Amino acid sequence: MKVLLVGAGGRESAIAEVLAKSEAELYVVAKHVNPGIRRMAEEYGIAKETDVEKVLDFALKWNVDLAFIGPEAPLEKGIVNVLEENGVPTVGPSKEAARLETNKAFARTLMEKHKIPGRKLFKVFDDVAEMRAWVDEFGKPIVVKPLGLTGGKGVKVVGYQLKDNEEAKEYAKKLIEKDGKVLIEERTDGVEFTFQVFTDGKKVIPMPLAQDYPHAYDGDVGPITGGMGSYSCENHLLPFIPKEDYEKALETLKKTVEAMRKEGTPYKGILYGQFMLAKDEPKIIEYNARFGDPEAMNVLPILKTSLVEIGEGIIDGNLKRAEFEQKATVVKYIAPKGYPTDPIKGVKVQISEDKIREEGAKIYYASVDENFTMLGSRALAIVGIADSLEEAEKIASAGIKHVKGEIFYRADVGTKESIAKRIELMKTIRGE
Ligand code: GLY
Repeated sequence: MKVLLVGAGGRESAIAEVLAKSEAELYVVAKHVNPGIRRMAEEYGIAKETDVEKVLDFALKWNVDLAFIGPEAPLEKGIVNVLEENGVPTVGPSKEAARLETNKAFARTLMEKHKIPGRKLFKVFDDVAEMRAWVDEFGKPIVVKPLGLTGGKGVKVVGYQLKDNEEAKEYAKKLIEKDGKVLIEERTDGVEFTFQVFTDGKKVIPMPLAQDYPHAYDGDVGPITGGMGSYSCENHLLPFIPKEDYEKALETLKKTVEAMRKEGTPYKGILYGQFMLAKDEPKIIEYNARFGDPEAMNVLPILKTSLVEIGEGIIDGNLKRAEFEQKATVVKYIAPKGYPTDPIKGVKVQISEDKIREEGAKIYYASVDENFTMLGSRALAIVGIADSLEEAEKIASAGIKHVKGEIFYRADVGTKESIAKRIELMKTIRGE
């Protein structure tokens, strides 16, 4: 079976690995040559992932049987619609269904209309005076969001990136002037977690929960990044999430898929719920229409079922099973110094692959080229997998020491201390 993979970051490295393990012949289109994916691929075409026509040309030239879309940007461009209209069955949501991620007002409105649990109070504004009046009357801390994709850089929260509601109103005004609209939400406090599921539009199969570390530096400080690392536990839950909250979050995702079907825009592919476990229940912070990056590197290496079989099930509306090993995982991303605000670029990173493997760790390349030159975003990830979280963290930490250069990473991802902090925070919020 010839499978086309679109994209070449850390997430796609994990997808490529399991596709290859599922005995797919791998064909790749991405904007740079990822050295790890290159080794697995039969053919590798260079094009922007959002250049849908070029991706289609490659798919037709190579006569692929199936396509797998990694990142969100091509979904917004309708890559799934175009490939399928041209006879290439594709794993990923249509342009209309991907609005769950690409249009935040659409997502919130859908939740409201279908009374999906995990909702938050929100308002969409196109008028500055109305927005100001509403925020003043609301009085409590808010979150200001651009409606569309911003690569994780557009959302600002009072108490974090914004000092107070006054500063929030100024930011919201700028967004109205730039985009014509802005989304304002109530701020909820709690601990965030990632819940990814496979869905064929009807059936929903959960993946192990994961937790991402979005801040740049140890101790959860510094600018927000795409995610500096993540962990998952051998029981597929997280230490601060009671089973009943897990069930509630799963119900939210099931109801979302049901609502999309009722709306006539069935959602097929991978659905990612970014949840916040709040005082009363898990709340949706946002949806993503694809695997998480880094969270794909937690769940895919422990996937026991063939990803090709899952992909075919998603496409045919006949998804049957997806089973995972009872293993804990820790992913630590390595980024160029200065990332995300002012990353150094064009500098080589030294990687002793053999030594990393001797430590029992895995390597997933991301924003580096074939010469191991860093391209400016997260460069590569080191992953530890073991029976316990402690052991998985040790393996990842041992492996990461064999990467040298003008780099940094978060040593605290998946450590006991950082997880204890999250458990404590949750107890405080819930008054336990
Ligand atoms: N780790 C966050 C994301 O994939 O969006």
